[in-house]
Amino acid sequence: MKVLQVAAEVFPQVKTGGLADVTGALPPALAREGADVRLLLPGLPAIADALAAPRTVARIGPMFNAARVEVVQGRLHGSDLPAYVIEAPYLYRRAGNPYLGPDGHDWPDNLQRFALLGWVGAHLAAGEIDADWQPDVLHAHDWHAALACAYVAAHPPTAAGTVFTIHNLAYQGLFPIGDFGLLGLSHRALWPHGIEFHRQVSFMKAGLLFADRISTVSPTYAREITTPEFGCGLDGVLRDRHHDLRGILNGVDRDVWNPATDRWIAARYDASLLAGKAYCKAALQREFGLDARADAPLFGVVSRLTSQKGLDLLLGALPALLARGGQLAVQGTGDGVLEDALRGAAAQHPRQVALHVGYDEPRAHRLVAGADVIVVPSRFEPCGLTQMYGLRYGTLPLVRRVGGLADTVVDADEAALADDRATGFVFDQAQPGALEAALLRAMALYRDPPRWQAVMRRAMAQEFTWTVAAREYLGLYGEAIASRREKPRRLSMR
Ligand code: ADP
Ligand code: GLC
Repeated sequence: MKVLQVAAEVFPQVKTGGLADVTGALPPALAREGADVRLLLPGLPAIADALAAPRTVARIGPMFNAARVEVVQGRLHGSDLPAYVIEAPYLYRRAGNPYLGPDGHDWPDNLQRFALLGWVGAHLAAGEIDADWQPDVLHAHDWHAALACAYVAAHPPTAAGTVFTIHNLAYQGLFPIGDFGLLGLSHRALWPHGIEFHRQVSFMKAGLLFADRISTVSPTYAREITTPEFGCGLDGVLRDRHHDLRGILNGVDRDVWNPATDRWIAARYDASLLAGKAYCKAALQREFGLDARADAPLFGVVSRLTSQKGLDLLLGALPALLARGGQLAVQGTGDGVLEDALRGAAAQHPRQVALHVGYDEPRAHRLVAGADVIVVPSRFEPCGLTQMYGLRYGTLPLVRRVGGLADTVVDADEAALADDRATGFVFDQAQPGALEAALLRAMALYRDPPRWQAVMRRAMAQEFTWTVAAREYLGLYGEAIASRREKPRRLSMR
């Protein structure tokens, strides 16, 4: 099966969050299962410059404000993934964050930048970009790539099935309705029941309406988003399509996140030889300027700082953590108010709380390896990868019971401890008190090393593999192809 993955980021070239980890790991996992997989990516500097043996397959000419658009094929340095890259220097040759300008606001031409990504995806799927390669299925990730599904639906001869994956329903790609005309789609795409969303154009909705199949990144989130509480205003659309919606849990890329081989951590270890983990903890305390105390339970956070991630709840529970001799090490970037609050806590308790603002991949590994507990108190979490990395590194996750967090962590309640099923700590209410209670349970267990180590070993034995996910995706691709053949989702161009 030939599969085209369309996405805005890929690890290690461009990463703002878990999406890049997924687009870096899913293609090789699909290839191991026998699929012929290629990526389609925007020509952001770090991506375009990473293409080895580039070959121009199409010169498209001016489009979406760009004077020159070309599609170049090659392999990405490092990962060796086969990829098509859209060279449109006017739209993509910008340093920094792929979605935001240096002022922290969305790039003003994001509509054009991501419409082009979808347009090229659809035309690749139609066999009009590369005469030598035409996919059987187009898999679009998040709102950035969602318009590909609408362009395919508007292009009746295309045989390729389409799958749209929601990585985060909260980011929808909304643009002024007056700009709809720039997309070159029929007005039927907009009204009635189209991609209009509260008088705006919604790229996310284009994926939800026009993809042959929809998926999201955990079974629990797949259920949650059909409810008003988690549906971000799109739960009705998702309920209408619930027969076509699946939850497929992300995996852990063991070439990247593995304490036995990780070249970024102070000492390597595995479940049978945990001495290296204590060494990683001491190194982390040094690096973050915390008291060098082996007996202090060290809580870690690696996160985008947004309200999604619930770190305000953690700040509310901080006094209890500090009073019991705990430590907190945070690495994150984002919301200035949260950054300031964390900075304030670190200034007040420099030996117990430390913050690194910014994005740093090696340090994220050192933090996950060195902490005793990784805290992910999200208000919602489509999948979440950091808790899975924590499990692998024997760093017990403390999480809220939502989305993929609920699907991957087993709470250390008495019953689970007795049956040797526990892998972390789970709380329910999005309130500091609920988080605090879980934190106190974690600290109590920490004081009982044999039991703590039993939970660590159980956590490290968890297998969340990309092989399992890849097989599920292949099944979904088969459904999408059959559905495109039998009951295509059409969008009339008239
Ligand atoms: P999300 O995609 O919502 O941010 P995930 O848990 O799925 O959440 O993935 C987050 C990814 O981004 C993980 O690989 C995590 O290690 C990484 N990450 C988040 N913040 C930082 C940071 N400040 N520095 C380095 N890596 C980070
Ligand atoms: C999103 C979600 C996160 C998920 C990631 C990869 O960024 O917020 O929960 O793990 O995508 O699918």
